[in-house]
Amino acid sequence: MLLTTVLVILCAGLFDVSAAPRQVPIEVPAVAKPRKLHGRFLHITDMHPDPSYRAKTSEETACHRKKGKKKKNRAGYYGVPYSECDSPLRLTNLTLDFIEKKWASEIDFVIWTGDNARHDNDRKLPRTPAEIYDLNRAVASKMTAVFTSRGISVVPSLGNNDVWPHNIMIPGPNSITNEFGSIWKAFIPFPHLQIFQRGAYYAVEVIPDFVAVISLNTMYFYDSNKAVGGCEFKDRDDAGNLQFDWLEVQLKGFRARGMQVWISGHVPPSPGNYFPECYVRYVELALRFQDTILGHLYGHMNADHFFFLEADDLDIVEPSTSPLKGQQDLFDTLLADFAAMPKAKDINLDEFAVINVSPSVVPNPYLPSFRVFSL
Ligand SMILES: *[C@@H]1O[C@H](CO)[C@@H](O)[C@H](O)[C@H]1NC(C)=O
Repeated sequence: MLLTTVLVILCAGLFDVSAAPRQVPIEVPAVAKPRKLHGRFLHITDMHPDPSYRAKTSEETACHRKKGKKKKNRAGYYGVPYSECDSPLRLTNLTLDFIEKKWASEIDFVIWTGDNARHDNDRKLPRTPAEIYDLNRAVASKMTAVFTSRGISVVPSLGNNDVWPHNIMIPGPNSITNEFGSIWKAFIPFPHLQIFQRGAYYAVEVIPDFVAVISLNTMYFYDSNKAVGGCEFKDRDDAGNLQFDWLEVQLKGFRARGMQVWISGHVPPSPGNYFPECYVRYVELALRFQDTILGHLYGHMNADHFFFLEADDLDIVEPSTSPLKGQQDLFDTLLADFAAMPKAKDINLDEFAVINVSPSVVPNPYLPSFRVFSL
């Protein structure tokens, strides 16, 4: 809906009737009417739609072929919990249809943290860039129909399975930044498009002048991406360093305007996931801008949890000793981390930041989930 405001300018010579020119109404450009806010937003992540998923097939074929031998590991109608299979389109469609019906009129914006393609390594059915882009385009157009059309901002970020091959992304501009610049056209604000071409990161004022979401491209921090250097201190032109330089400028800009921001991305910042020097830069900014950052929202791990960044992490951690590496030991690592926290009375809150990792839509390994944050 558009609200047109008409201002009437009174001329200085109004009372001198003979000399006064006629009053001239000035049309102020149409401004979108502010939406009613609800104090809620959606975080959705790791949908992993798989067009080749077939019900009743064998889990060993990534749920693509063959009849499952044992009934219990046969592919289900809406997916297979506790398995490595991706999501049937039936599940991803149903999820977004459900959200449209129950939540679309209840939320203010959407944070969507990547992995919108299948992740399996089925040798008989290799992933291709075309399939990855098609799946992303399909989910993005569904997002546009459900949210953007209602004036709700959607802020996507790139997952490690949204690129081909898995995990690998060279510095932009490249075919990936080009393709996603087009797939996410409805989501990226025009002033950010040029920087997006360089690195697939950008920011959106989801509540103009109050709250922004900064969408990071964690591929340049993720230590499985062998195509980048990993924020090495001496390499100022490294793609990760350039992104952190940009992030600092964004944070300073939003702080100067008295705004608050959510930071979002796919791979969460942990010593096990990030190159050591990228991790240190992340922790430094997270702590220095505590007054501006509302929180940090990530996906990738497919398990609902949170953990802390600590001032102690500002020392470089050797990757071999890093926690949070694999899925299996996530639970033990978190318990050990929490047990090592200082007692409540000794905690200096300036030295901690919380990272929230949301559960995935794909039931790998747990049940399909999304999260609505509420004030
Ligand atoms: C899922 O939705 C897409 C787009 O609306 C549609 O083309 C596709 O047929 C649907 N698939 C299933 C299995 O429901």
